[in-house]
Amino acid sequence: MSTQAIGLFDSGVGGTSIWKEIHKLLPYENTIYLADSANAPYGQKNKEEIIHLSEKNTEFLLEKNVKLIVVACNTATTNAIKELRSKYEIPFIGIEPAIKPAALNSRTQTIGILATKGTINSELFSKAVQSHKNVKIIEQIGHNLVPLIENGMIESAEMRELLEIYLNPMIEQNIDYLVLGCSHYPYLIPIIEDILPSHIKIIDSGEAVARQTKTILEQNQLLATAQKPQLTFYTNKGSAVLKSLLNTPEAIIIEQSF
Ligand code: DGL
Repeated sequence: MSTQAIGLFDSGVGGTSIWKEIHKLLPYENTIYLADSANAPYGQKNKEEIIHLSEKNTEFLLEKNVKLIVVACNTATTNAIKELRSKYEIPFIGIEPAIKPAALNSRTQTIGILATKGTINSELFSKAVQSHKNVKIIEQIGHNLVPLIENGMIESAEMRELLEIYLNPMIEQNIDYLVLGCSHYPYLIPIIEDILPSHIKIIDSGEAVARQTKTILEQNQLLATAQKPQLTFYTNKGSAVLKSLLNTPEAIIIEQSF
């Protein structure tokens, strides 16, 4: 039985959507989550900057003696996971837009993807798109969605307006799947559902990442068994938005600069 924690990082609060899936599937695991909100959004940064920040986050978590790191950020995964895996020995789990299940199940042969600029412009993402030539993939950058979420403005008129601008052209082009390619976006699902006709399915990668995390821990005999877990969250910006999205009373939230 391993009491070492699972480490997770994201550019901010969004990766908590992944953390929730992991905590649901692996409720005994200690977790340490790093929200680099002071540097959000990563999606507007270049590859070198994203690699640098991802390394800094990894080193923070390694100092806390974590057993595995979940890169709970599509932008960091698609731009930096190769470099992280070659530099550090610890197992990494990444998160990428779930193009495959959408492409395999689409009946209209047309799917939409909403992701950050950093993800859409990455090599890993274009390779994934290239390998699904059987479907038409409509790519849309979610400009300004992450800053609004980071600032606690999910319910704002501005958010709804932006989402309508991004999603309406996809609806017109007859998508039947919308892939959420950013770990912040699951928090927008209620608004997105309100905009999309009900036959369009929304897919994100949270559950798949949680299953993969469990598999890797099992393979390495690193699973925790019955214990009351410690759920620690570090943020380098105010904790109010993190706290409200987490909605987990037992979470310990620590504000510090890093
Ligand atoms: N949550 C992140 C993602 O999954 C990054 C968003 C950002 O900082 O731009 O892409």
